[in-house]
Amino acid sequence: MSEPTETTSHRPRRIAVLASGGGSNLQALIDYFAGAGASAGTICWVGSDKAQAGAFDRAQAAGIPTAHVTAPHDGDVLLALLREARADLLVLAGYLKLIPEVVVRAFHGRLVNIHPALLPAFGGPGMYGQRIHAAVLAHGAMVTGATVHFVDEQFDRGPIIAQWPVPVLPGDTPALLASRVLAVEHRLFPLCVAAVAAGTVQLGEDGRVHGDLGIPVPVHSPAWRFALTADDTPDPTPISHPTPDGTSAAAQALATDVARLFPR
Ligand code: GRF
Repeated sequence: MSEPTETTSHRPRRIAVLASGGGSNLQALIDYFAGAGASAGTICWVGSDKAQAGAFDRAQAAGIPTAHVTAPHDGDVLLALLREARADLLVLAGYLKLIPEVVVRAFHGRLVNIHPALLPAFGGPGMYGQRIHAAVLAHGAMVTGATVHFVDEQFDRGPIIAQWPVPVLPGDTPALLASRVLAVEHRLFPLCVAAVAAGTVQLGEDGRVHGDLGIPVPVHSPAWRFALTADDTPDPTPISHPTPDGTSAAAQALATDVARLFPR
C-alpha cells in the first residue's frame, strides 16, 4: 500500500475504481484523467463484484487492468488487490457492496463515492439505482441532485465533498430523473476526485472536509436555474466564485432569480 497523499509531490495519483454497473461514471473518470486531469491522476485499476459489469468493457477499451472481486466482503483480499494495483485512491463509481472496514481504514481520506441524491436524504442501505429516484418522486421532493463524499463504514454516510442540485420536474419518472442527475454526476465526479488526488481537498482530523475544489462549484448551476424559470436559458458557466465584497456570486445570482420570480 502506498503512503497517504502528499501535497508536495506532483506525481499523478494512481486511482483504483470499483463499479458494479454500466460504468458511465467510470467512463467520465477515464475521459477526464486521460485529458484535463492527467497531471492529477491516472486510472490504474477497475474492479467489480459483477463478472459481467459493463464497467469492465469500458476499462478494457481504455487498456486499464481489471479484476473480478469475487469476495467483496473480504477486506484483506480487496486490500491485496489494491496493493498490487499500487492504488493511492479508491473511488466508488456505482459500487453496490459495503467497503470492508479494513479497507475504509487503510484508505482514510482517500476513498470517495458518488451518490445520485442530495445526501443525507435518500441514501443508505437499499437506496440504489432507480429506487433512489422513485423515492424522491414518492416523497414529492422538488430538488434532488448528486453528492460526492468521503466513504466511512456505512453506506452513503461520510463527509460531503460537493453537491449539485437538480430540479424535479412535472412528469418526471425515475428513469428521467436518473438521466438528469447522471448528467451532472459526470461533470462533478471527476473534478472532486481530481481535487482529492491533487490534495487541494482533504479529509481533516476533525472529520470535516477542508480545502477548495478549485473550480466553480455548481451550487448555482444551469440545472438549478432551469428549475427556477421554465423559459430560462441554461447558463453554461456555473458561478460561485466569491466576489470582492465577500458575498458569493451564487448567492447574488440566486437573489436575482428570486427577485425576478417574486417581484415586490
Ligand atoms: C450512479 O447514479 C451513481 O451515482 C450510483 O450508481 C449509478 C451508477 O451509474 N452510485 P453508472 O454505472 O456510473 O452508469
